[in-house]
Amino acid sequence: MARADQKVLGYLGRALSLELSAVQLYSTQASLVASWGLHQPAKALREEAYSEMSHAERIIQRMLAVGVAPNASRLRPTALGGSLDELLDIDIRFERDLIELYSGAVEHCQKIGDYDDRMLFKDLLDEEHVHHHQLIKWQADLRGMTQ
Ligand SMILES: [Fe+2]
Ligand SMILES: [Fe+2]
Repeated sequence: MARADQKVLGYLGRALSLELSAVQLYSTQASLVASWGLHQPAKALREEAYSEMSHAERIIQRMLAVGVAPNASRLRPTALGGSLDELLDIDIRFERDLIELYSGAVEHCQKIGDYDDRMLFKDLLDEEHVHHHQLIKWQADLRGMTQ
């Protein structure tokens, strides 16, 4: 079994809480915008929730591999908004928080020479960068349409 660095375990724990919070966030938003009659955005947000769930699963698998039980106990409360534009603002900020967390995790793993965890965090970092980018583009397109 891989040795577990305390700080890496801390990053894994925070990552799990944040990824599960992202599932809660996007699932809530999917239902919210569906209630506004926005079916395409609802579908896109639901897919976002699935993507974050797959991140949570990868973190859980890593935790099991290093011999710790997943124990996320506090999720970030879901911020609500009154328009799709407001929801996208919230999402862009949320993805930025994920990017910040994973950047720190990658840097730490690099420093201590922890290759496996570095690979995991780097993959997740790259995917959150893609999410962040897509959300910014979505918001720009939306604003262009409503001008
Ligand atoms: Fe994620
Ligand atoms: Fe994301």
